[in-house]
Amino acid sequence: MTLVVANWKMNLGYAQAKRWLAVVGPELSRFEVEVLVLPSFPLLPLLQGQRPQRLLVGAQNAGPAASGAYTGEVSPVLLKELGCTHVLLGHSERRFFFGESPELVARRTAAALEAGLSPIVCVGEGIGEERQAVLERQLAPLKPWAERLILAYEPLFAIGSGRPASVDDARAARELIARLLDRTAPVLYGGSVTAENARCFLREAGMDGLLVGTSSLDPTGFVGLLEAIADAT
Ligand code: PGA
Repeated sequence: MTLVVANWKMNLGYAQAKRWLAVVGPELSRFEVEVLVLPSFPLLPLLQGQRPQRLLVGAQNAGPAASGAYTGEVSPVLLKELGCTHVLLGHSERRFFFGESPELVARRTAAALEAGLSPIVCVGEGIGEERQAVLERQLAPLKPWAERLILAYEPLFAIGSGRPASVDDARAARELIARLLDRTAPVLYGGSVTAENARCFLREAGMDGLLVGTSSLDPTGFVGLLEAIADAT
């Protein structure tokens, strides 16, 4: 089933999250898609307590081990206890602002799988970078777990810019990921997804879902995006 991920990033406080749940929650039964929300860590107990039926909850990152001396990290085991099913790993904002290497992302991936979480690993080239070389570097250390991964293709220029990748680029990236991993894994598209372009990425590019940042923050707008997707699936 198509997976739509609402990546709130470092946005939405407690009251806004409650409102989002109140608006989006009752609508979810109308859509034949899986919706996964990724709130800030401290909101996870709220979502555990007030989670609408059919809403999946995940985290935006997870520590590279089950426990230990990793100040500032959050254990994937604790995330699982708090009701998370998925975790986003290697988002370009983690790789570029916080220097996360492909090897660290792979360690986080292994720990997440060990804890029973489904990792969604983000890959994508920066401006002026060659896609194949970057994806090779990002995917190589993930190969041992290839069959258990969900990937998200997010080219950097498309994130938060209002300039999404082309359908052809998304399709090509999807094929490249399968080639580099030696298998077909589910691949989401992310980067300036809106209600207007969501349909193209699902229907024309054949992506398995969408990773939505900005357009996931306003609950009414997000329901509009789900409606557009429902037409496309
Ligand atoms: P955006 O963010 O939808 O605001 O471009 C997507 C993401 O980075 O997950």
